[in-house]
Amino acid sequence: MHESLVEILQCPACRGDLRWAIEERDGGVLLEADASCEDCGAVYQVREGIGAFLTPDLQRTDLWEEEHTELTNYLDKHPDLRARLLDGPLEELEPVDRMLRSEYLTESGDIAGAEEASRGVQEQLYTPELNELWDECLAHMAQISSGHPGPIVDVASGRGTLVELMAEAGSALIVATDFSVRVLRRSRRRLLYKGQAGRVSHLVVDARKTPFCDEAIPALSSHMGLANIIEGASDALAELRRVCGGVLLFSHAFCRPDDPVHAPILREFGHPLAFLEDAMEALDSAGWNAEVLISRRVPVKPTPTSELIPDMVVDRFPLADAEFDGVLVAAC
Ligand SMILES: C[S@@+](CC[C@H](N)C(=O)[O-])C[C@H]1O[C@@H](n2cnc3c(N)ncnc32)[C@H](O)[C@@H]1O
Repeated sequence: MHESLVEILQCPACRGDLRWAIEERDGGVLLEADASCEDCGAVYQVREGIGAFLTPDLQRTDLWEEEHTELTNYLDKHPDLRARLLDGPLEELEPVDRMLRSEYLTESGDIAGAEEASRGVQEQLYTPELNELWDECLAHMAQISSGHPGPIVDVASGRGTLVELMAEAGSALIVATDFSVRVLRRSRRRLLYKGQAGRVSHLVVDARKTPFCDEAIPALSSHMGLANIIEGASDALAELRRVCGGVLLFSHAFCRPDDPVHAPILREFGHPLAFLEDAMEALDSAGWNAEVLISRRVPVKPTPTSELIPDMVVDRFPLADAEFDGVLVAAC
C-alpha cells in the first residue's frame, strides 16, 4: 500500500490515531508494517504490500490463511477432473470451465495462463446487451478517473475489473478495497503481472467500517460491488458518506420490482439495495444526493453450469431469463 495513505487512515474500530511501525518499504510503497491504535490498542497489519483494516468484530478468520478456494480443494481431491480442466485444449472447454481454469491458475500464480484461459469468456457468459452496457459504464468511470487527482477508492473491488481499467486510464492513485484478502491478493498478482501495480494500493476493508478519515476521499467508485453488499448495506452507504468529500460513482444491474422470479426472493431477503428505486431512497436517507447517469433495460440469463464440476456456476444470479435495469449512478 502507498505510504501516502497513512495520512488519511485511522482505526476503523474506534477512529483513534494509528501509530505506524514500518518494517519494509519499496520506494513509497509499504510492504510490511504494523499500525496500532493509540486509543483502543487494535493492531492492523500490512503484509505482502496489502494493508488489512478489518475491525475485530467483523473479522472472522485468519486473514493470512492459505488462500485455497472450494474449487482448488475440490480439484485436489479429483485429480482426473483437474487434469481435464487444466491440461485439455482451451477451445474444447465451455466458457464457464475456461473461467474456472483461469481462477485455478490465478490462485497457483500462473497469471499468463489465467489471462489466456479467460480471454473472450465474458462475452460468452453474458448477453451482448449487458456486456455493451457494462462497457459503457466502465468506460465512463475510467474516463472520469483519468483526469482525477485521486486517490480514488474502489469499493468491493472483487476481481478488479474496474480497478484495472482505471489504472490503465490515468495516473491517479487507485485504492482497491474488499473485505476478502483472497480476492485482493489475486487482483494484486494480476496487476503486478500487467505492470500496473504501481498505481494501485490494496486495502482489506469492510465498507461498513472503513479506516478512512472523515471526508478524506475525493472519489469513490464501484462496479457491481456496492449494491452487492447484502448485510448492512445501509450502514455501508452511511459510512461511505462519512469518508467521501467528493463524488461516488457506481454501476449495478437492478432486478425489476415486477420480476416474478427474482423480486420475491430479494424482498424476502430484505436487501435495501435490491431495486433501483429502493437504492435511490437508501442513498437519500444516508445523505447522498444521487442521480442516474446511464440507465438501460437489458436481458440477462443465468450463467451456464460447469460441464466438469458438479453444480459449479460463475454467478448464482439470475436464476432465470429476465430483464434487469443496468445503471450508472452518481452521488455527492
Ligand atoms: C461482484 S464482486 C465485485 C466486482 C468488482 N467490483 C469488479 O470490478 O470486478 C462483489 C464483491 O463485493 C465484496 N463485498 C461484499 N460485501 C462487502 C463488504 N461489506 N465490504 C467490502 N466488500 C464486500 C465481495 O467480497 C466481492 O468481492
